[in-house]
Amino acid sequence: MSAIVISGREIAKAVREELKERVSELKEEGLVPGLATVLVGDDPASHQYVGMKNKAAVEAGIYSRQITLPSATPEDELLGLIAGLNADPEIHGILVQLPLPDHVDESKVLVAVDPDKDVDGFHPVNVGRLATGDPDVLAPCTPAGVVQMLLRSGVDPAGKHAVVVGRSNIVGRPMASLLLRKAPGGNATVTVAHSRTPDLGAVTRDADILIAAIGRPDTITADMVKPGAAVIDVGTNRVDAPDRERGYKVVGDVDFDAVKEVAGWISPVPGGVGPMTITMLLSNTVRAAEALRAAATAGA
Ligand SMILES: NC(=O)c1ccc[n+]([C@@H]2O[C@H](COP(=O)([O-])OP(=O)(O)OC[C@H]3O[C@@H](n4cnc5c(N)ncnc54)[C@H](OP(=O)(O)O)[C@@H]3O)[C@@H](O)[C@H]2O)c1
Repeated sequence: MSAIVISGREIAKAVREELKERVSELKEEGLVPGLATVLVGDDPASHQYVGMKNKAAVEAGIYSRQITLPSATPEDELLGLIAGLNADPEIHGILVQLPLPDHVDESKVLVAVDPDKDVDGFHPVNVGRLATGDPDVLAPCTPAGVVQMLLRSGVDPAGKHAVVVGRSNIVGRPMASLLLRKAPGGNATVTVAHSRTPDLGAVTRDADILIAAIGRPDTITADMVKPGAAVIDVGTNRVDAPDRERGYKVVGDVDFDAVKEVAGWISPVPGGVGPMTITMLLSNTVRAAEALRAAATAGA
């Protein structure tokens, strides 16, 4: 039997509708959630991503401030700008689009963002909070989106064996931490595999939930998947497609057509994890604003 296809597009739509309501509630209390995006340089892909993030923020009712700086911007100037945004009461979320130009020390910039406004979840304080199981931390958007896709498809990771293939700081590691947390969407038994894992198939075949965050097309084949497993494909790979007008197409890490005949649930690429990533950025911004409201109420 063919797997249930988990549509990130549909789930993202539902989450964004819920967020609109939460934004309205905040606005009724005079608080407009604000997101600042900072883009340094003129990388076309980064411009496109930031544009999409700002458009999505505006659609959700979030105040969006897009700051674009020339690629020669000195590091000190960028750090000064971030300090200003940290202190700005109109801004609840700060996103610095990566990669940054070579002359800027990325780690210095990530540390400069106030952890309470770190909607990307990359600040070492938030990385540590997630690693130590904090249920309230602002978690990185892509793995947080995967958790929502599982839960909203009726796949609760609690008690299941989840295998994450990939150990990057952006996807694999925070994904494993989220699945391990004693919190909704967590409580799984987690295995992390990577390029040095011998016999990857032996590991993935034991997964009730398999998350592929590899960056290589067709790495997960049907014989590597346990029948009935939930398979989430984070991979986003461009492959040549001469028949397409733009000459390429985007595929994941999973051999979708074959794996969907074995798995119980499967997410497609495109239309899977991708739409959830931006949605969770909006969610983190709303959560950051709500936390500020809660702190203000507690202090009143
Ligand atoms: N949809 C979205 O919103 C979204 C967001 C972020 C990323 N992505 C996509 O997700 C994929 C992963 O991104 P990333 O930033 O995590 O990539 P990354 O930093 O390159 O990490 C890839 C991971 O995969 C492992 N790996 C590579 N080849 C492998 C193999 N043959 N067998 C087992 N493990 C292997 C690597 O192992 P080592 O550590 O040993 O090198 C590494 O841990 C990419 O396609 C990226 O474009 C999508």
